Amino acid sequence: MRDILGYAGRTVVITGAATGMGAAATQVLLDLGAEVHALDVKPIAAPVKQAIAVDLRDAAAIDAAVAKLPAQVDRLFNCAGLPGAPFPNLDTTLVNFVGLRHLTEAVLSRMSAGGAVASITSVGGMGWQKNLENVKGLCDTPDFAAGQAWLEAHPKENNGYLFSKQCIIWYTKRRAVELVSRQIRMNCLSPAPTDTPMLPTFHQQVSKEFIETHFLAPIGRNATPEEMAEPLVLLNSDAARFVSGVNLMVDWGYVASVEVGARKGLL
Ligand SMILES: NC(=O)c1ccc[n+]([C@@H]2O[C@H](COP(=O)([O-])OP(=O)(O)OC[C@H]3O[C@@H](n4cnc5c(N)ncnc54)[C@H](O)[C@@H]3O)[C@@H](O)[C@H]2O)c1
Repeated sequence: MRDILGYAGRTVVITGAATGMGAAATQVLLDLGAEVHALDVKPIAAPVKQAIAVDLRDAAAIDAAVAKLPAQVDRLFNCAGLPGAPFPNLDTTLVNFVGLRHLTEAVLSRMSAGGAVASITSVGGMGWQKNLENVKGLCDTPDFAAGQAWLEAHPKENNGYLFSKQCIIWYTKRRAVELVSRQIRMNCLSPAPTDTPMLPTFHQQVSKEFIETHFLAPIGRNATPEEMAEPLVLLNSDAARFVSGVNLMVDWGYVASVEVGARKGLL
């Protein structure tokens, strides 16, 4: 049978590989025969080619991690993230967007035509169009230091998790357009609530009942980490070779139910 995903022998970089969706995606990529270089601030258990400790809040640490990567990278998966409280909003947006962008731009310099990037954002980012002025404000900063300075100067505009996820969506779309000329694809994926170590933190922020009332997928249960990892792997695969600039909702119709008015959207 033809291998329509095409990961065998491919050089893949993945962040957030220690737990949750990133760990699940790492296992899928190993099963598909990819050479996996995994980055996380926590220890990585999977038998990857290389596990690199990195704190995405720190530009120098990201540069040091990139220096350990192969000269040619075929695919990048951005899965690492912080949930917001109890972490400060500054740390959350540094990890979720400014650090993600810094790593992505560095890895893009090692990618050639046919390369692809897939990042995990969130259904929590779905209000990005209404907040475009602030989203562009951060996304237009040229580098990590300028991004951090923008965040420090705009503590009200940076509400942490939701803002960081809006920025991933805008960055993905804009870079996807710019990267057409290099034949590199960029997409993101918006999960509905998923059973990972992060989910209890969302319950603590508002309440389990609030999350389930307003954000649970219409099918009536949380997703498993694998139910996010597999579509993410698909986005960066050969099977999706004509897909770029997409924010793929993996939510069993949650966003669709808000869009058609079957459910009230809070964002
Ligand atoms: N779980 C959900 O319900 C849900 C819903 C929507 C979006 N998401 C997003 O999915 C992605 C994966 O999260 P998850 O749910 O698997 O949670 P998780 O907490 O299991 O995974 C997050 C990973 O990011 C790593 N990480 C955190 N801070 C880091 C830092 N400073 N530097 C490097 N790595 C760091 C963690 O160690 C962990 O391995 C995240 O971007 C998250 O925002 C999760």
